[in-house]
Amino acid sequence: MTLVDASAAVNFSLNGAPVTVRTAPDRRVIDLLREDLGLTGSKEGCGTGECGACTILVDGEPRLACLMLAAQLEGHAVETVESLEQTPLGRGLVDAFEAHGAVQCGYCMPGMEMTALALLRQAPSPDREAARRALSGNLCRCTGYVKIIDAVTRVRTESP
Ligand code: FES
Ligand code: FES
Repeated sequence: MTLVDASAAVNFSLNGAPVTVRTAPDRRVIDLLREDLGLTGSKEGCGTGECGACTILVDGEPRLACLMLAAQLEGHAVETVESLEQTPLGRGLVDAFEAHGAVQCGYCMPGMEMTALALLRQAPSPDREAARRALSGNLCRCTGYVKIIDAVTRVRTESP
């Protein structure tokens, strides 16, 4: 009997560092991150592209890790919530969510924060409408969104 190796090498950048993983090309990115790479910050809510809890950035754009396959990462730059502490903007974002009481159970937060990070890189001082629009794909069952929008529109960083 011949055993077929169904895995393949996938090369990408993960939170600024180059990585190569051997995996089934059709492994979901959320499983690759959480189970194979130990990055459990990204959460799976619905698993069907509805809630945004699994949002990561791929080449700076918000993407749903529950709908992406490992092979789609080849050659791309992936950022997860674990990277937020690496930059003044990321730290400012986390601090703003805390300062404005925007976190309750916290399950939606990794996805919210990554979507907000992409927005703030493009528009450092978004108004409430822009923040609402950007976050419209991220669902929260706890907060009622007002404090989340407060936080995203008032992020301060240590550097200008
Ligand atoms: S877990 Fe991916 S969108 Fe809900
Ligand atoms: S804080 Fe609980 S789902 Fe958003």
